[in-house]
Amino acid sequence: MTAQLIDGFGRVHRDLRISVTDRCNFRCTYCMPEEGMQWQERSNLLTFEEIERVAKIMVERYGVDGIRLTGGEPLVRARLPLLVEKLAALGVDLAMTTNGVSLPLVAAELKAAGLTRVNISLDSFRRDRFLELTRRDDLDRVLAGVDAALEVGFDPVKINCVVMKGVNDDEVLDFAEYGREKGVVVRFIEFMPLDADEIWNNSLVLTQAEILETLQAEYDLEPIRRSSAPATRWRYADGKGEIGVVATVSESFCETCDRTRITADGQFRSCLFAVEETDIRALLRNGSSNDVIAEALERTVAAKWAGHQINQVHFIRPRRSMSEIGG
Ligand code: GTP
Ligand code: 5AD
Ligand code: SF4
Repeated sequence: MTAQLIDGFGRVHRDLRISVTDRCNFRCTYCMPEEGMQWQERSNLLTFEEIERVAKIMVERYGVDGIRLTGGEPLVRARLPLLVEKLAALGVDLAMTTNGVSLPLVAAELKAAGLTRVNISLDSFRRDRFLELTRRDDLDRVLAGVDAALEVGFDPVKINCVVMKGVNDDEVLDFAEYGREKGVVVRFIEFMPLDADEIWNNSLVLTQAEILETLQAEYDLEPIRRSSAPATRWRYADGKGEIGVVATVSESFCETCDRTRITADGQFRSCLFAVEETDIRALLRNGSSNDVIAEALERTVAAKWAGHQINQVHFIRPRRSMSEIGG
């Protein structure tokens, strides 16, 4: 490794999130439009070989040590374990964020291919509410997916719960209890303005402070030193696990950000909320050398902004929704 992906604020980037498909078998209200999406043509998606080439440049030239597969829903992409095997060979912390529905079928194969850990999205334990939120009646399959992830030995298994005021905020303690009993790390996520139907507004955001207040009424929590990852973390004082909050809206953590993203159609983004992308797919397909691709990656990170502007009047929503960016 000779170089770093560094921006104008001195942040060194060591984390790559790869969306492998924009498709999803759910249509979560906070993520996808009600009428569904117009999926990308298959030919627009990066092939596994193309993904591997970019990932290799990131790891070997720039010391990227964490890669996460996202979607849409990553497990909708055919033969995903083959990609997992290729990326695991790079020796990185290789994780995946999934809706969990297919895990009972593929968890063992993914583990064998070299995936180290999974984060599973789950926003309600109530069947009717789950159906309303995801537009699929699959609560039991997702719960079985969590069990499958634990059984095959992913460690840790994390649950991502997007909490919205008046929607599922009455389940915060149920999630905490579930996490403690199962031995999974529950992370509460503030609702972000990246939903496709633009229902987001500040009054729907259950803030980190509000989430903590509910938790602390029941449990003693001790702060854990934060890393460059987005979650602020606490451990239960009685030793039964930990909890996290991703507080993008109320407590921005942009100053420690080390993340980059590549979308399923090969667009490189320096921020979840970026309004500009760099077309890496074009370079991959026009015979560009690794040096040229690397230079485009460096330039994109160098031009990164200080952080998102959600709470400011000049905030511009990215053109693409969460499901296309990969979270
Ligand atoms: P860990 O490495 O396990 O901590 O995973 P993660 O939290 O980084 O990834 P995951 O895909 O599980 O994302 C959880 C939530 O954090 C989602 O709502 C993501 O959109 C959000 N998130 C992930 N990375 C970033 C980021 O760089 N900035 C912001 N604002 N949110 C992020
Ligand atoms: N706000 C916050 N989190 C979101 N996610 C999807 N859409 C949103 C949103 N608008 C989360 C999902 C998933 C992760 C990739 O992003 O729950 O766990
Ligand atoms: Fe990084 Fe953008 Fe997320 Fe801030 S909002 S932490 S800059 S990806």
